[in-house]
Amino acid sequence: MKEKMYHMWLQYNSIDGPDLQAYQKLFEEVALMGSSSIMEVIKEELNIAIKNMLHISPKITTNQKAKIVIGNINQLNELLENKKKQEIESMSNEGYLLYFFEEQLYVVGKTDQAVLYGTFHLLRLIQLRRTLNTLNISEQPTNQLRMLNQWDNLDGSIERGYSGNSIFYEAGKIVRDKSRLKDYARFLASIGINAISINNVNVWEEETFFITEKYLPEIKEISDIFHSYGVQLFLSINFASPIAIDHLETADPLQPEVMQWWSNKVKEIYDYIPTFGGFVVKADSEHRPGPFTYDRDHADGANMLAEALAPYDGKVIWRCFVYNCVQDWRDRNTDRARAAYDHFKPLDGRFHPNVILQIKNGPMDFQVREPVSPLIGAMEKTNQMIEFQVAQEYTGQQKDLCYLIPQWKEVLEFDTHIKGVGTTIEKIVAGNIHPYRYSGIAAVSNIGNDQNWTGHTLAQANLYGYGRLTWNPSLGSEEIAKEWIIQTFGKNANLESVILEMLLESWEIYENYTAPLGVGWMVTPGIHYGPNIDGYEYSRWGTYHFADRDGIGVDRTKETGTGYTEQYAEPNKSVYNSPTTCPDDLLLFFHHVPYKYTLKNGKTVIQHIYDTHFKGLEQVKELRKKWNSLESEIDDARFENVRERLALQEDNAREWCDQINTYFYRKSGIQDQHQRTIY
Ligand code: GCU
Repeated sequence: MKEKMYHMWLQYNSIDGPDLQAYQKLFEEVALMGSSSIMEVIKEELNIAIKNMLHISPKITTNQKAKIVIGNINQLNELLENKKKQEIESMSNEGYLLYFFEEQLYVVGKTDQAVLYGTFHLLRLIQLRRTLNTLNISEQPTNQLRMLNQWDNLDGSIERGYSGNSIFYEAGKIVRDKSRLKDYARFLASIGINAISINNVNVWEEETFFITEKYLPEIKEISDIFHSYGVQLFLSINFASPIAIDHLETADPLQPEVMQWWSNKVKEIYDYIPTFGGFVVKADSEHRPGPFTYDRDHADGANMLAEALAPYDGKVIWRCFVYNCVQDWRDRNTDRARAAYDHFKPLDGRFHPNVILQIKNGPMDFQVREPVSPLIGAMEKTNQMIEFQVAQEYTGQQKDLCYLIPQWKEVLEFDTHIKGVGTTIEKIVAGNIHPYRYSGIAAVSNIGNDQNWTGHTLAQANLYGYGRLTWNPSLGSEEIAKEWIIQTFGKNANLESVILEMLLESWEIYENYTAPLGVGWMVTPGIHYGPNIDGYEYSRWGTYHFADRDGIGVDRTKETGTGYTEQYAEPNKSVYNSPTTCPDDLLLFFHHVPYKYTLKNGKTVIQHIYDTHFKGLEQVKELRKKWNSLESEIDDARFENVRERLALQEDNAREWCDQINTYFYRKSGIQDQHQRTIY
C-alpha cells in the first residue's frame, strides 16, 4: 500500500467498467517512431501505464496504420494533412498536437521532447477517464523556462526541506542508485518541467567542487537521466570558485585571469555534459560571495559568467534576492522590501542576452501574503523570470496544509500597469511584454526521500500544480486540483469534492491563523515554523512589524515611510500609498495603523485579528473532520499520513491563535467583542 504514496499522480489506476474496452481496443497497437533516448522513455512509460490501467501490453510497432501513432513532425510528415503540418510548424519546439482523425489517434510533436509531453497528456486524459475519439488538442507551453531549484546539499540535507533527505545526495556523496532520480524526472516531465538545478543556491565548501572532474562524471549521469525526460540540468555555483578551487588570488569578474578561469571551466563542463544548461547564482546575498567584494556590480559579475557560457548557449540565472541581512533594527530608513529594485533596476540594459534575473514573487521572502515584487517587469532590457517556493518554508512546512496554486495565480494575474492596463506578471514572465530572449518561472522544490516525496501527501498537489500552471497559467486552481485528485486517488465523486474543498480553502485558513494583513513573519527565527511574534523584531534581518500599544504595521509610504510604494507604476503606487485604497489583506505591509483603524470590511484591525485567528483554528478542526470522513475511501498509508499531519496542524494553529490574540490583547488592551478566551 505504501506504493500508492510513492507514485504521486502517476498512479495509473486500473480502469474498469464500460470505458475499459474502448481504451483497450485503441491501445492494441501503438506506432512509435524514432529511437532517441526520449522515444525510449516514451515507450517505457506507455508500457507501464497501459499495463496498469488497461491490463494489456500494447504492441509497439512502426506501422503507420496502427490505431495510435506517435512521433515528431519529421517522422510523421507524410502522414499528416497540410493543415496539421502548418499548425505544428508554427509552434514552439515544445508544441504538440493530439487528435483523432479517420479512426487513428495522433500524438505529433514538433520535437521528441514535445512528443513526450503529448504522450503524458494522453496518459493524463486516460487517468481522468476522458473520451479519446473526439480529441482535437493543440498545446504549447506559455513559458519558455519551467524550472525547479533543488536546495539539496551533498551531505544529504536539504535547505528548507520538509520531506526527509535528498534523493540526489547522501552522506557526502552523489547517490549511487539513481532510480529515484529517474522517477523524479518522470514526474517532472509529466507536468512539463524542462529545467532543474540540482544543488542548493548556497553553495558550500564541497559542493563548490561540483564543477570539477571530481564530480562531473557523476553529474553527467544525472544530467543524462533528466535529459532523456526533456529536463535540462543546471548547477548552482560559488562565485568565489576560482579562489576556492584553484587558489587564484581573486574572483574579481573584471580580472582577465578570472575570466579565463571561468571560460576554461565552462569548456570542461561542456566536455562532460554537452547538454548542460548553465549556472544559477546567489551572489552578495546572505553572506555568499559576489562582485561587491571587488567593488563591481551585479552586471559585471553576471556578464563575466555569461561570456564564458555564451559559446555553448549556456545561461546565467542570477538571483535578485540581494539585501542587507545585517541591518540594525534601530535603523528605520533601510527597508528590505526596497532592496531588489534598488540594486537591479539601475542596471537595466547592462546584462548580456544570456543572463536571466530570477526574482522572488514578493519583495520579502515567500510569506503567506506579500505584494508582488515591483522589480518584475520593471527592467525592459533584461531577461527576467519569477521565483516561487513550492517548499512551504513560511506556509506550514508540509505539516500544515496549504495549497499554493491560488497564491501563485494571484501573483501571475497581478496587473503591474508598467505598459498600461493588462501588463500582468503572467505576460511579463511569458516574455510577451518586453522583448526578453529568455524568461519563465522557477521554484524551490518541495521533494525529498520520504516515501511520498513531499512529507504531506496533499503537498504533492503543489508540485503538480506548479508544473501545470507554469505550462499554462490560464488553468484554474480548481481545475488543477481536480486533475491532481483524480490521478492521485482515483475517480470518486465524494472524495473529489471533499479534497477539493480542503485544498481550495487551505491558503486562506493558513493566513487566518498566522501573521495578519500582510505584515508577515512572526515565526520562530531560524526554523520558520510556529509563532514567535517578536522573534524577528529586534534582529538584523529587516523583517519587522513595529507593533506598539497604539498600532501595528510598516509605513512604506512616500510621505512618512520608506518610500517603497514609489517602486510601483501608477495606479498601484497610489493605491498602495494610501490606507484608504490599499487592499485590506496588504494593509499592514504598507501602513502603520492604530488597532481601531476600520478595514473595508467594517471591522477594526484588532477585531479582525481576533476573528480570523479564532476562525482559522476552527477551520483546521473542520479540515480534520473532512479528512476523517474519507477513511474508508483511501488506503491506510495515505490516510494516516494526512491524518497525522492535520493533527500537527491543529496544534500549530492553536499555538498561533492563542499567542497572536494574547499578544495583541496585551499590547492594545482592547477586548474581543465576543469575549472569547484570550490569555
Ligand atoms: C530564505 C531561506 C534561506 C534561503 C534564502 C534564499 O531566506 O530562509 O534558507 O537560502 O531564502 O532564497 O536564498
